[in-house]
Amino acid sequence: MADLTPLLAFRWSPRAFDPGNELRPGEAASLLEAARWAPSAENRQPWRFALGHRDDDTWKRILINLPGGDQSWARHASALVVGAHTGGDAERAAYDLGQAMAHLTVQATALGLHVRQVTRFDRAGLATELDLPGDVRPLVVAAVGRLGDPYALPPDLLARETALRHRHPLPFLLLR
Ligand SMILES: Cc1cc2nc3c(=O)[nH]c(=O)nc-3n(C[C@H](O)[C@H](O)[C@H](O)COP(=O)(O)O)c2cc1C
Repeated sequence: MADLTPLLAFRWSPRAFDPGNELRPGEAASLLEAARWAPSAENRQPWRFALGHRDDDTWKRILINLPGGDQSWARHASALVVGAHTGGDAERAAYDLGQAMAHLTVQATALGLHVRQVTRFDRAGLATELDLPGDVRPLVVAAVGRLGDPYALPPDLLARETALRHRHPLPFLLLR
């Protein structure tokens, strides 16, 4: 494998979060600052965020709109971050939001945090729950926290948590 910066090599998406961990002062701001400095088409910055810390009102409103199976592990995350996009060109805005979330994820790794993103959730329900303006479209929820005990997960999730991660080989990805 070619060299990879440790910030990317150490990143992965767990479901086992430490239920006792709270984000330290400045960590939430640091995550959002990283997202804010992502590149975007014409520098439109078509992203918006909502961040809830475990058990606060925003966090609860986000959590209840995740599928039940995801709530079971996401409720141990220290924070839940909604990534939403806005503006006329939804496809391009969604691409830009993805860049912002990737920045957030790399910054999380630098802070010793882990992130698991979820896009399967009740978008309309979450928009209503957070009272979002009509042109702000939630697309992703990122669960952020410190690694927890995988053996606290139910058996099916434990198996997935400890399975080998894989990627398509580079030659498969290259079009020419
Ligand atoms: C855009 C996006 C959507 C995802 N949606 C879900 C999801 O709905 N539920 C889930 O458990 N994981 C979700 N994931 C996590 C992926 O399954 C995970 O990133 C992938 O399996 C690769 O594993 P790794 O991040 O550990 O390298 C999502 C990740 C991304 C980037």
